[in-house]
Amino acid sequence: MTGIERVGVVGSGLMGAGIAEVSARSGLDVIVSEVNEDAAEAGRVRITKSLDRAVSRGKLAEAERDATLGRLRFTTSLADLADRQLVIEAIAENEQLKTGVFAELDRVVTDPAAILASNTSSIPIAKLAGATRRPAQVIGVHFFNPVPVLKLVELVPSLVTSEETVQRIETFAADGLGKQSIRAKDRSGFVVNALLVPYLFSAIRMYESGIATAEDIDNGMVLGCAHPMGPLTLSDMVGLDTLKAIGDSMYGEYKEQLYAAPPLLERMVDAGHYGKKSGQGFYSYS
Ligand code: 3HC
Repeated sequence: MTGIERVGVVGSGLMGAGIAEVSARSGLDVIVSEVNEDAAEAGRVRITKSLDRAVSRGKLAEAERDATLGRLRFTTSLADLADRQLVIEAIAENEQLKTGVFAELDRVVTDPAAILASNTSSIPIAKLAGATRRPAQVIGVHFFNPVPVLKLVELVPSLVTSEETVQRIETFAADGLGKQSIRAKDRSGFVVNALLVPYLFSAIRMYESGIATAEDIDNGMVLGCAHPMGPLTLSDMVGLDTLKAIGDSMYGEYKEQLYAAPPLLERMVDAGHYGKKSGQGFYSYS
């Protein structure tokens, strides 16, 4: 028993939709909040497609898909999250927007024991906690894309997060969602991105300097090191704008060259080449 049955998810992009899907599939009652009706509808479509894919692969019964969709509601008002026991924020990596959401959640969520969590990959949890009157119940819960597939969550307590909050979320991740957690300090990049992003940047620098083609760099790591996908394909999947934002945040924190976004990545983002989601990155997607 995790004591958490009513979950709110703020944002239904790649990560928010995945978090909402996994929560509803785990039997939890989920409300997803979005900025407007179009974004909410896009989130619903994203989750429905993912569930349909699981049905077509024989991993989910049709009745279970319908039951999962029945446990999901969408809203355009954060006030509708009032009765939630846990809210996970998964909006864009923008500190001002995120602190605004946390301040508003703090006002509307009525349960004094409710936990307010963020899926941020780079913004200090302490800053989000500072926007609320319940900093001991604010924590980072960082999922990995694709959320339904990857088992890990990083738990990131700030200096003022209570141990009770960390333990409640750890139990929730394991028993509620079937995820395995690791703990990291409230430092930009936590564990995984601090290791992954310099590797992805090295691959981009290698490509930029003409040492090998994109395909050969990717094949090198897939066939030579048994990675599930190569670094340039993975960069496209993460989103080149997101990758640059995470690198910028780590560079700002550590001032170390290995976190500095390569010029090619900067230019691709300037050009609107965000990877798979925009149709063009290191590869083209129709
Ligand atoms: N949603 C749900 N399930 C999915 C999925 C999705 N988006 N994509 C793939 N799957 C499932 C498939 O249904 C399939 O399940 P099955 O084997 O039980 O039928 C399984 O995953 C394998 O899928 P495919 O056969 O279609 O494709 P692949 O074998 O090529 O796997 C992949 C695709 C799971 C994406 C795999 O390539 C992978 O794990 N890549 C690495 C991803 C990674 O490193 N993610 C971390 C990014 S960093 C991050 O998220 C942090 C952030 O802060 C940047």
